[in-house]
Parts: sequence; C-alpha cells; structure tokens
Amino acid sequence: MNRAWWKEAVVYQIYPRSFMDSNGDGIGDLNGIISKLDYLKLLGVDVIWLSPVYQSPNADNGYDISDYQAIMAEFGTMEDFDRLLSQAHGKGLKIVMDLVVNHSSDEHKWFVESRKSVNSPYRNYYIWRDGKNGGPPNNWGSWFGGSTWTRDGATGMYYLHLFSPKQPDLNWSSPALRDEIYRMMTWWCDKGIDGFRMDVISMISKPDILPDGPAENGAQYGDFTPYCIHGPHVHEYLREMNSRVLSHYDIMTVGETSGVTVEQARLYAGEDTHELNMVFQFEHVDVPGKYAGWRTNKISMPFLRAVFSKWQTGLNGKAWNSLFLGNHDQPRSVSQFGDDRPAFRVVSAKLLATWLHMMQGTPYIYQGEELGMTNCPFESVSEFRDIDSLNGYRTWVENGPLTHEQFWPFLLFKSRDNARTPMQWSACPNAGFTSGTPWIRVNPNYTEINAEAALADPDSIFYYYQKLIRLRKTYPVIVYGAYTLLEKNDPNLCVYFRELAGEKLLVICNFSDKKQAYTLPEGFLGTQILITNLNRRAVDEPSLTLQPYEAVVLRRPA
Ligand code: GLC
Ligand code: CA
Repeated sequence: MNRAWWKEAVVYQIYPRSFMDSNGDGIGDLNGIISKLDYLKLLGVDVIWLSPVYQSPNADNGYDISDYQAIMAEFGTMEDFDRLLSQAHGKGLKIVMDLVVNHSSDEHKWFVESRKSVNSPYRNYYIWRDGKNGGPPNNWGSWFGGSTWTRDGATGMYYLHLFSPKQPDLNWSSPALRDEIYRMMTWWCDKGIDGFRMDVISMISKPDILPDGPAENGAQYGDFTPYCIHGPHVHEYLREMNSRVLSHYDIMTVGETSGVTVEQARLYAGEDTHELNMVFQFEHVDVPGKYAGWRTNKISMPFLRAVFSKWQTGLNGKAWNSLFLGNHDQPRSVSQFGDDRPAFRVVSAKLLATWLHMMQGTPYIYQGEELGMTNCPFESVSEFRDIDSLNGYRTWVENGPLTHEQFWPFLLFKSRDNARTPMQWSACPNAGFTSGTPWIRVNPNYTEINAEAALADPDSIFYYYQKLIRLRKTYPVIVYGAYTLLEKNDPNLCVYFRELAGEKLLVICNFSDKKQAYTLPEGFLGTQILITNLNRRAVDEPSLTLQPYEAVVLRRPA
C-alpha cells in the first residue's frame, strides 16, 4: 500500500456556526475558530474540515451557497479566512473546505439568471423540465420532504432539487458549469487550502431521462436514488475534476457518498482510479427507521461490527477508508453507539474511540466528540433550527399521520440539531460559547461536560483521544495494518487483529454494560498494553474479566 500524508492524518470537523463565537452575536465565526487553534493543536489533530463558510442565505446552514468565493457575513470576511489559514498553517494544521456542488442556493447569481428565461446563458446550469399532466415531471420525493420539483413562475417550467427548493441541483452535464466549478476550486487551491470534503458528491450525475422512482405501497413520492446516486457519468466527472484540478495540488479529498457500496468505493477512492482519496460510507448510520430515516433505537454492536469489518477487508490494499461515528448530520456518537448514562458515558466514549481509531483508514473527530458531548434534551419544537428536523415534523405530524407525542421521541433522538448545539468550552454561561444569546440552545449538561473540565482532568476523554492520536503517529501498524475480525459471533465483544510486517495488535472491546469473560488468543500473554480505558495494568493470565465497556489494545512486536 502506498503511503500518503492524508492516510496518516487525523481530521477534526468544525461546524463553524456552533464552534466559538468571538463577537457576541450568538453565532460561531472564523475569529472564534482562530482563538481555539491551540486547543486543536493540543488534541493533536492534523487537519480541520470546516463545514461550509461560504456566503449563504442559510436555508440549510451554509449547505446552500450563493457565492462560492465569498465568506458568509455572519462568519467574518475573506481577510479573516486568510488569517485563519495562515495561522493554522503556522501551527502545522491543515484546512479542508466543504465543497457543495451538487446544488447551489436559489439565490446564487447563476440560478437568478437561469430562472429568468429558457434562453438564459445560465439556463442549462440547472435541471429544468416541463410538467406532466398539470403536475411535476415525475414522482420523486426530496430528502427534505415534498416533491423534488418546484414550478417556477417566469417560464412555467420545473427545476430539480433533491434537497429543499432553496437548493436547486446543478446540471453537471453542462461543460460550461463544470468549467466554472473547476475554476472556483482552482482559486481555493491557489489560496493554499489543503483539500475538499465533497458534499453528496455521489449524486452529481443525473440521467437525461428522469423516470418515476419506485414508491412504497401508498407512498406519495417515489425514490430518486436509483437514478441519481452513482449516476451515469459520476466517475467520468470526478476523473475530469481530478485531472483538471485535484492532481495539480498536494491536497486531500473525501467524498460524501451516501449509498456507496464497497465496489463503488473502490472506484471513487481507488489507489489508482484518479478520483478521490477516500469516501464516507453511511451503512452504519443510514439504517431505515420506523418513519423513513427517523428512528429511536441505538445501533447495535453486531451490526456496527459487520459493517466496518466488511469495509476494512473490502478496501484493504485497494482503496482508503474514512472512519467516523459522528458528524453534523448524526446524533452524538456516545448517544447513538455508546451509553450516555452518567455511569457509563466516559468509559463508553473511550471505548468507541478505541474501537474506531484502531482501524485502518483516516479517523474523523466531530467537534465535542473528544469531550463525550451527548444528545440534547430539547423541550419543544420551537427549540429546533434544522431544516430537516422541521420538515420532518411537518411531514409526519402537521401534515401527516402521527401525533406530536408519537413523533417526539424520534425527533429527540435523531435530529441533526443534537450535533449542532454549541461546543461546550467551560462551565460559564452558555458554555463559554458566546457572551450573547446562542442561535440554538446549549445542552444543559455543559456545567459538567466541557473543555475546561476535560483539560483539568488527566483521565478525561480529551486526553484519551490525544493518546490515541499519538499512538497512530508512533505505530504504522495502526494506520496501515491489515484487519482480521475475531469472535465473529460474540454478542458483546468486538475483537480484532491488526497486522503489519509481523507486528500485531489485538484490540478487545466490551460493548456491554456487564462484565464479560474473554480468553486471550495465543501469543498475547504478557504483551504490552498500548492503551486501555480502565486501569488494567497487565495481561498476565490468559483469561480476562472485562469490565463494562472496557477496551484494551495489546501489541506484539515483530
Ligand atoms: C449533506 C450535508 C448535509 C446537507 C446535505 C445537503 O448530506 O452533510 O448537512 O444538509 O448534504 O447539502
Ligand atoms: Ca459571531
């Protein structure tokens, strides 16, 4: 396997709106991020991925961009951005930008022009169709609720939006549009940024003919994904993007590829396919819920283990994995995969971190994950800000079959706003995030769970992540070693080997809240404990009693 800096890096995701507010308007901003660079340096990460900071009317918090070469006024100015970049670089931190080019904002000048007339030079930058039988061109339902089509008054035609009507899909089959995108990307690369995280990049290619999608019995809308995910030209476009832009810079690229299979990922992120460096796969979180994606159940370890094991072995030597449990679209990882009850929060957060960071791939830490931040006990619908949560409520309660009481637990568990409550810096008012009124409520557990407390406690989750990152930089087996799953059917234990040139790691994780017995495999008695989330000192007996949520990593040198 070829070595690369981005394979050896650990990435930290910042959701700027919720990270740190520097001027008291209640909204996180670029100067706030600058003020926390030393904190990230102390943690030991190499790369910061910034969720979008571009100019945007904020229908979807920046995932609806109205100018790709301007900074959102609420976040600061281009001068602030340049200062962030140079200060980060001065500290040895890289900056990866979110790139949202499946769609733009409807307030982008391209769309403003496009909608004016069928003869606009920008008409073809978007996907326009005539209606059918007095309705939209087909039955597709948007991921944010409603039809994927909105009729536009000026010409009477419909435009496609796989997300909200404020997010019209760009038409990648237009060479002029692709030129514009590559020019814009080149501009950012020339500025010195270190890479792109590409939003829903697996959806940029749509077929010319857009047939009705399969609809579940009685469902109002059909599914667009068979036509729009991994559409006909997606790999061609990415190879073109690679040859025109990416290959000219030493940057890292990660594609958000909902619905991706191992086989597809080998194309998107193959060692020699000249597309992207790695992709995010979503099999461990895109689990159908009771009401579309809405669910209240945590993800079980056996399921998690099966998904990750398939990806670990499926990509080994062929393509590169990205490793994540949390991001700005997911419940907090300790609430979704661990155990956020007070007695188990810290130990299970460390268990999850061990389990994830000991695998092959590039790990991603979502802001606050290093503190063990949890889902938020929201108390009313008016506290939610997320377009997807509010649309979900409209679809299922206001216009749908459920009562408020029936849907509430689903909203509470799964809302993207769980991940978007302000970063908890200290026990000061508003968690030290802002001196003003925060744009979204602060999780009340900030008085206990916060960065200041974590930095003062040598046993904190923060320092545990710091150690995991340091180990990754010390032992190449953690980055590059091959993965083998043991105890395939154990209901509580997830155990695996990593192996590189005769050096071997044994990773043992007890995912249950009960003690579990485990017998060491041959050759690990008395070996070095690389890291442990409890105080295990030695493994001098073959049979171990693992404590609830205990994780331990053993190392046998070559
Ligand atoms: C991606 C983003 C999500 C956004 C959507 C539309 O899934 O991660 O936050 O809402 O794309 O841009
Ligand atoms: Ca601010």
